[in-house]
Amino acid sequence: MYRTKNCGELRIANVGETVTLAGWVQRVRKMGGMTFVDLRDRYGITQLVFNQEVNPNLCDEANKLGREYVVQITGKVGERYSKNDKMPTGDIEIEVSELCVLNEALTPPFTIEDNTDGGDDLRMKYRYLDLRRDPVRKNLELRHKFCFEVRRFLDSKGFLEVETPVLVGSTPEGARDFIVPSRMNQGCFYALPQSPQTLKQLLMVAGMDKYFQIVKCFRDEDLRADRQPEFTQIDCEMSFVEQNDVIETFEEMTKYLFKQVRGVDLGVAPFLRLPWSEAMRRFGSDKPDMRFGMEFVELMDVLKNTGEFGVFNSAAYIGGICAEGCASYTRKQIDELTNFVKSPQIGAKGLVYARVEADGTVKSSVDKFYSPEVLNQLKEAMQAKAGDLILIISGDDAMRARKQLCELRLLMGSRLGLRDKNKFALLWVVDFPMFEWSDEEQRLMAMHHPFTAPKPEDIPLLDTDPANVKANAYDMVCNGVEVGGGSIRIHDAILQAKIFNILGFTPEKAQEQFGFLMNAFKYGAPPHGGLAYGLDRWVSLFAGLDSIRDCIAFPKNNAGRDVMLDAPSHVDQKQLDELAIKVVEK
Ligand code: AMO
Repeated sequence: MYRTKNCGELRIANVGETVTLAGWVQRVRKMGGMTFVDLRDRYGITQLVFNQEVNPNLCDEANKLGREYVVQITGKVGERYSKNDKMPTGDIEIEVSELCVLNEALTPPFTIEDNTDGGDDLRMKYRYLDLRRDPVRKNLELRHKFCFEVRRFLDSKGFLEVETPVLVGSTPEGARDFIVPSRMNQGCFYALPQSPQTLKQLLMVAGMDKYFQIVKCFRDEDLRADRQPEFTQIDCEMSFVEQNDVIETFEEMTKYLFKQVRGVDLGVAPFLRLPWSEAMRRFGSDKPDMRFGMEFVELMDVLKNTGEFGVFNSAAYIGGICAEGCASYTRKQIDELTNFVKSPQIGAKGLVYARVEADGTVKSSVDKFYSPEVLNQLKEAMQAKAGDLILIISGDDAMRARKQLCELRLLMGSRLGLRDKNKFALLWVVDFPMFEWSDEEQRLMAMHHPFTAPKPEDIPLLDTDPANVKANAYDMVCNGVEVGGGSIRIHDAILQAKIFNILGFTPEKAQEQFGFLMNAFKYGAPPHGGLAYGLDRWVSLFAGLDSIRDCIAFPKNNAGRDVMLDAPSHVDQKQLDELAIKVVEK
């Protein structure tokens, strides 16, 4: 037996016991005639002590231990002279009588402690060392617990976990596919699934009734803090359901997970269901962070054509937010905000501000264009008080201007400490538009995906005004993050064909790409719907992380590379020849 106890479990009650431990040397400290070693494993850290006077040879051996050596020790548990109340094992230490080095280690390229000196790239290259660190390992433990509770909940509701293939066919729409060449079918390619969407619908046709899967999905898209090229979905589908059934089931699951995994009671009240158009109007986002207010106030009536300011007079949208208590912002602070909204990633033309002074008067950056009465109306429209700062963005494209104001709102929310990671604001965004116009493709695209059903009352509009059709779709949002989304599906081959037509597919192309699904619908498809959660996003929210990478064991970097495995990489010519693939250098 390598060990009788682990490095995290010994307490004062164990004093006097002889134990054997195994683990990694975190640190060696020599103090006078004593040598102290911190021994670490997954469960914790235990202090070992070697006494020069009691056993000089053993102490010499301990002095030779390097960081991250793998050792096994046997010794007696003793009460510590100076206790450490920051460590669960801080009351005890092991007076070592036997030491066996199981494996030596090179000096690690960064310190393996909670606060490491390793930069991001270095930690990713040696991720197996990074994962030895407590905060990183804790994220994986949380992820395990989360998945375990998801399975427990869904099993209790009769959901069946079914695996779907990873080598599937490429489908247009959505993000770019990762493709895999086939040796046995030269010139042909599989695609890795962006989600098991069509397969789970086929499982409904197959009568599975309630399906789920914790499943890897692959999307070749630009990466951000909450996006990875391969990520994990909790993918679910149910038969004979309407929107409300799906929402209620998954709201219950969300509350269960918060309670079991995060220890947070979300209460019994149902989550807010916010129509998409209202979310855009009040927050400029389809995933509003509702931990704080600072809602948009539309100012077209107040500021358009009521003064000489040309920018507002020609704007299609003017909107403001009120930052409480920020009237004292210095010129430099306002310039920082202006530079932020004008940065290429936000793209606003400028920022107008108005301070409400202690005496209630308004001092703004556009004073010379407006009368004091108009500025007073502005204050009233914004419901601003003395000491508040009003920030205003306008634009020719209302949607774009709202999105810019949304970024500013989020920044101000962070600055004012209103985005506490231990507070959770959950809601559903519903009634999404069915289609959105793509300038690039010059056609309507499905806002969710092409299998989403329109709202039943909007079906007649498909022929006359498709751009105004609403989808029977819903997203769950937590703290400004889209944690999940889904819809009621089309289960009728004729309606599905009509949607493909609106999306610009010829009947032949639709048959070629999605014939398998439309044919299946001809064999008795039940009404069905579902959703998928982003597991990585949930876990990072629960853990309070800034990036989903930190809860993934082996993530990719922002360039989509695994720097530890050095992937993607070139392959042998022989492999390429077998696949009949020729690489052209650009
Ligand atoms: P959707 O594309 O909205 O829907 O994806 C569902 C959820 O998956 C998460 N997610 C991601 N997480 C990390 N990295 C990514 N690149 C990434 N892309 C998406 C999000 C998102 O809400 N088949 C449909 C679901 C359905 O209709 O049932 C789908 O995939 O949290």
